[in-house]
Amino acid sequence: MRFEAFMAACLYDPSAGFFAAGPLRSTKSGDFLTSPEVSPWFGRTIARHVEAERDRLSAHDGFVVAEVGAGSGSLIDALRGALTTPVPAIWVADASPAAREQLRRSTPDDHVVESLDELPRPIVGVIIANELLDNLPVALVVRTADTWQERSVAVNDHGRFVLVPAGARPEVVAWADEFATPTPDGGLVEVQLDAGRWLRSALDALTAGSLLVFDYGGTAEELAPRRTQGTLRTYRAHHLGPDPLHAPGETDVTVDVNFTALEAMARKAGADVEVLRQDDYLARWGLRDTVSSLRQRELAIARDGGTMKRLMLRAEHTDAQTLLHPRGLGDFRVLIARK
Ligand SMILES: C[S@@+](CC[C@H](N)C(=O)[O-])C[C@H]1O[C@@H](n2cnc3c(N)ncnc32)[C@H](O)[C@@H]1O
Repeated sequence: MRFEAFMAACLYDPSAGFFAAGPLRSTKSGDFLTSPEVSPWFGRTIARHVEAERDRLSAHDGFVVAEVGAGSGSLIDALRGALTTPVPAIWVADASPAAREQLRRSTPDDHVVESLDELPRPIVGVIIANELLDNLPVALVVRTADTWQERSVAVNDHGRFVLVPAGARPEVVAWADEFATPTPDGGLVEVQLDAGRWLRSALDALTAGSLLVFDYGGTAEELAPRRTQGTLRTYRAHHLGPDPLHAPGETDVTVDVNFTALEAMARKAGADVEVLRQDDYLARWGLRDTVSSLRQRELAIARDGGTMKRLMLRAEHTDAQTLLHPRGLGDFRVLIARK
């Protein structure tokens, strides 16, 4: 089978997929820790951007905030709590039944659905996706001389999944030629057609407003050094997991997102596009000032001797600062596509 079909089954198969069949994954006790799980200041800072968009679009009726791949709801909960006035409607989507159950519990007034396709259309407002596009199925290609060869998944004589060469489809070759050169001979590239389709569909739904995509990855140029081994990997219980072929359904299968490809798709869809580092984006909406004011409050309380309050402020300060770490979450990328 094509690698996309294998990856889709690993993640979304209704009876055995990592997201579809298991417990809620994006929590401290789960398999990975994301920005909104690290600190509520992630959602609170995005709320400032959302409010600016609401002001910009005040002539339109029915402003909507939608989050796709909302996980536990930690981003949307913090965002909602930081809005100065409530927005008319919040929609949250997640492919995982466990996540949807948690979202229904924690956000009873929101509309909870399974995917982008079920959001109302047209949307005026803001659509957000944090660490979603790195999970969308990819095709795998290997550079051979001056062309590309695909890798599919087969079963060998010992009953094991293995990668086997397959002819490359024209759309896969076109993507690799445009967004993955140069690649050394034998180098591996993940072709992210589904991520582009997702972005296109989100922008088609949005008549006015912004789409915000947060994820790990980089521009095509920044990803060049990773095109020898590729970036395909798995996570389980907060650690790198086994080869994706070895434990299907038991691990998060993920890749670094190619933001140049997303940017090109967003421009094609008629949006104004910007790609920033996450630390720069959060600083633009005031997070550095928030971090220093948390520190000032912590120091002031230290002088007055309130130990419990001081420790809580210190934890809040440290967590908020983690979002800005230049080699950690701060190094994530944010695509802002505005219509
Ligand atoms: C890495 S988690 C991130 C969760 C949350 N955004 C966060 O930052 O904590 C990815 C989430 O996206 C969901 N997901 C994956 N593919 C999806 C899709 N195609 N549509 C909707 N949700 C999806 C998964 O179930 C999972 O909850």
